[in-house]
Amino acid sequence: MIRKVLTLLAVMTMCLSLTACNKAVIREKEHVIGVSLANMSEQWRLVLKEELEEEAAKYDDITLIISDAAGNTEKQIEDVNRLMEYGIDLLIISPIDTKALSPVVSSVYSEIPVIVMDRVVEGYDYSLFIGPDNELIGEQEAKKVLELMSERNVKGTVLELRSENLASDERSDAFRSVMNEKKLTTMNLLIPEATRDCAEDNLADFSSYAANNIRAIFAHNDYMAYGARLALEKLGKEDVIVVGLDGYPGPGGGLEMIKSGIIDATVSCPTGGIEAIRYAVAILNGESGVPKKVLLRSTVIDSLNIDEAKEPITIEGGKIRVGYAQIREDSAWRKANTDSIIKAAKEFNIDLEVKYSETSLEEQIEQVREFIKDDVDVILLSPFVEDGWDQVLAEAKAANIPVILSDRSVSSKEDMYTSFVGGDFEEEGRKCGEWMLSDMGEGKARIMELLGSKGSTPASLRSKGFNESFRDNPNCEVVYSAYADFNADLGKIVLSEYIKENGLDVDYIFAHNDDMAIGAVAAIEAAGYRPGVDVKIMSVDGTKEALKMVKKGKISCVSECNPLLGPVLMKAVTDLCEGEELPLTIVTDETVFTRDTDKSLFKGRKY
Ligand code: AHR
Repeated sequence: MIRKVLTLLAVMTMCLSLTACNKAVIREKEHVIGVSLANMSEQWRLVLKEELEEEAAKYDDITLIISDAAGNTEKQIEDVNRLMEYGIDLLIISPIDTKALSPVVSSVYSEIPVIVMDRVVEGYDYSLFIGPDNELIGEQEAKKVLELMSERNVKGTVLELRSENLASDERSDAFRSVMNEKKLTTMNLLIPEATRDCAEDNLADFSSYAANNIRAIFAHNDYMAYGARLALEKLGKEDVIVVGLDGYPGPGGGLEMIKSGIIDATVSCPTGGIEAIRYAVAILNGESGVPKKVLLRSTVIDSLNIDEAKEPITIEGGKIRVGYAQIREDSAWRKANTDSIIKAAKEFNIDLEVKYSETSLEEQIEQVREFIKDDVDVILLSPFVEDGWDQVLAEAKAANIPVILSDRSVSSKEDMYTSFVGGDFEEEGRKCGEWMLSDMGEGKARIMELLGSKGSTPASLRSKGFNESFRDNPNCEVVYSAYADFNADLGKIVLSEYIKENGLDVDYIFAHNDDMAIGAVAAIEAAGYRPGVDVKIMSVDGTKEALKMVKKGKISCVSECNPLLGPVLMKAVTDLCEGEELPLTIVTDETVFTRDTDKSLFKGRKY
């Protein structure tokens, strides 16, 4: 205990004496982590700083140096440069202005690992992003306001209360999108500071209540929500619904406000400070399975569920038992995916039972029900399609068996499963579209799209990301698309029939996976055309066979979808069974391969 207190004091000393530090003092510990915070005025950032310091204090070989940019972008850039001068081993940064900070983050990332928090910088030049799912938070807030208005049979306008220094357009856009969808009228009030007093002052004489029939307020943090409630009480408007955000425990926090009836609900917004230190240690120790993006779980909290303690998972007999509903071997990717998970389960000493489905929803649902009946500790599910899972996920939840989604996601609400581990399908499609735009220059592009399995998230999201990338370019047109079910033979058949009917009159082909792309190459060559010359092919996965074709110029661009999820999944299962709360979304690290890609990246591929 004494050592921990001394360590914490050492950490605190480092924080306070940033300007007085020198390399000799810093090198007391093995790893020095520099932290650049946007400010230390917002409560969220103070909680982040506390979490970082408390978690770091658990490690004897970690020193933290924390800088406070005080909301000034230029100062934050100076802070980062000064931290680099002190010889830090890893940077954790919560950026103020992501566009302005992207260049310096990219420069630091060329030398040491970088963990970006809260708001992601442009591009991919960072080791890991950890933050809330802001779009989900906006949706959760909107759905809670609608639920409360419906329960109280209230109709009217919803006021959204934001502040200039709490920029969260994603949350606001998602909030208003749901409100517009439900045809509710919203108003937006922007106040200078995200504080209780500022909210109370700006709402005190808010005579618009009556004029606009305001019946609910969504405040972008609990303190502003408190201020709104105080103003409403003075105006005799106690019946107006007030929903906040952040949900901090402890005195003055949002949870206390709910218990005392000040606000009607809030949405938790975890800072990720604990996760940041844990991943930083894993990165510094060279551990495998560090993801690229971690989106933290946010939960809607009200007086009914505020005391709902999550039942801990009890492991009988010491070995964790996992039931895994996996899709049959539909591709080289799938084989690598299954092998990786089976291998990792052995390494983590986890008892894994795999059931394969011939790609039918009903069959997979039955498999999940069998795992529930067997009372496994955790269920892993790679859902063939995204819809139709609500009922069986509710059964697993009722049985207190957590479900972790592997590889593909579902359309069920985020509180119906524990976590998602896999690639970012939308980004994979977007990366192919961005390559095509860079390749086509000012010319026109007639495009063919080979779609994966109908109703699956890789097909829908890759198509979404790809088509959005050139949405504003009038020279791009998808002239033909067809499903080929991620299958090489079907890819070949679709191309053969198309060429027979139309000749090869397209400039680019976007295949949702390598197997279909490889089938397309065979058909194009069989028809006497040259893939890579007469038509350029983009695909997703990064299998060995596809990368060989990239080197030969037959496939022009492959966006990686990493199937080697085993280590990340089994670490998540282990963490969960040790009582840790898992992030909502864990996205694996993925790159893009073209003929210009450094040849070293093609070597040692494991699938
Ligand atoms: O869900 C991932 C996709 O499934 C892969 O991209 C594809 O090869 C597999 O069929």
